[in-house]
Amino acid sequence: MLIPYGKQHITEEDIQAVVDVLKSDFLTQGPTIAAFEEAFAGYVGAKYAVAVANGTAALHLCALALGVGPGDKVITTPITFAASANCVRYCGGEVVFADIDPETYLLDLYKVKVLLEASPKGTYKGIIPVDFAGRAVDLEALGKLAKEYDLWIIEDACHAPGGFFVDNDNLNRYCGSGEFAELAIFSFHPVKHIAAGEGGMITTNDKGLYQKLLQLRTHGITKDVKQYKNAPAFASGMEAPEMPAHEYPGWYMEMQDLGFNYRLSDIQAALGLSQLKRAQEGLNRRLEIAARYWQAFRGQRFVKGQSGFIEGHAYHLYIMEVEDRFGLYNYLRTKNIFAQIHYIPVHLMPYYRQLGWKEGDLPNAERYYKNCISLPMYPSLTQEEQEYVIRQIKDYYHG
Ligand SMILES: Cc1ncc(COP(=O)(O)O)c(C=O)c1O
Repeated sequence: MLIPYGKQHITEEDIQAVVDVLKSDFLTQGPTIAAFEEAFAGYVGAKYAVAVANGTAALHLCALALGVGPGDKVITTPITFAASANCVRYCGGEVVFADIDPETYLLDLYKVKVLLEASPKGTYKGIIPVDFAGRAVDLEALGKLAKEYDLWIIEDACHAPGGFFVDNDNLNRYCGSGEFAELAIFSFHPVKHIAAGEGGMITTNDKGLYQKLLQLRTHGITKDVKQYKNAPAFASGMEAPEMPAHEYPGWYMEMQDLGFNYRLSDIQAALGLSQLKRAQEGLNRRLEIAARYWQAFRGQRFVKGQSGFIEGHAYHLYIMEVEDRFGLYNYLRTKNIFAQIHYIPVHLMPYYRQLGWKEGDLPNAERYYKNCISLPMYPSLTQEEQEYVIRQIKDYYHG
């Protein structure tokens, strides 16, 4: 028995969905992409969804669509996967990390406010909050701040499809619904809630951004006659008088922007769409597992903090802060339990150190990193396996 921290759950139905696409006319750029996009937009409650190659591509396209350019300052959290910050660097922008709240492990809104107040308005262009571990950022509060300082928001919701926060009117506000953020992104890497092998999704309620993203995803090319910039005569290769003013030949298309090939294939979309049908079921299992960890570890002396049992949390990860994390991690490996650490603070990666970040810059994130450990959390983790994990952890501390 080997217990990882996370893993995909593939059913016969998933396999059949992929086989169906393999037997169809389209392996890519076919109808399954649109079906997946529509179903996903419905799941998170957004108007539009754009499927892309992976979560990193999703972040890159969002930064491009919002016009991030050299010197633009964008705020994000250091406790995330590096891609949340890197997308700003791809566009030549400057990443400014703000510290985390030691209770929620999310970007500390107060710290963000202090940062914004310390510089003239317009210094910062945007903010990339992360629904880290599956806990939704309070985008209502962050949205107010963003409005005041004229910032856009890209919500990195890779960990939180189906997650939500409860707003001031007691309404559930779902991650990626686009109510407070211009754009939101998701990943379909196998450890995430919905697996597609690789894959990503961008959601938005903004039609203009949606259209831009569709174009950027596929080389900056459009086939929409209404958007064409070249004249029909040029397009057809015929002289102006012979070519009707608004007619373009069937082969014609225009590359209007410097885009990429960040498309998802229909094979991957089929798997994603099939998995999406079980997303709520998977989420419910994650809630059960979280509740059991919470019960097992609350009040234990060796626990300095833990994810807890929180309404709306999507529990991509169940995190504990513990004494002697290093020892526990190694001990669990000898028992075939492969817990993981999320994350090494991004600002202390050699790449970001070379840009000027150093130890001591973000004390909450750095302290958190010294103690954190992500326990096994995935829908197919059995109760027996979870009890084994709990027992081994208690044995390590209590002997
Ligand atoms: C918070 C976060 N953002 C972005 C990404 C990037 O997604 P992908 O691996 O699909 O490129 C990940 C994936 O690990 C992630 O956890």
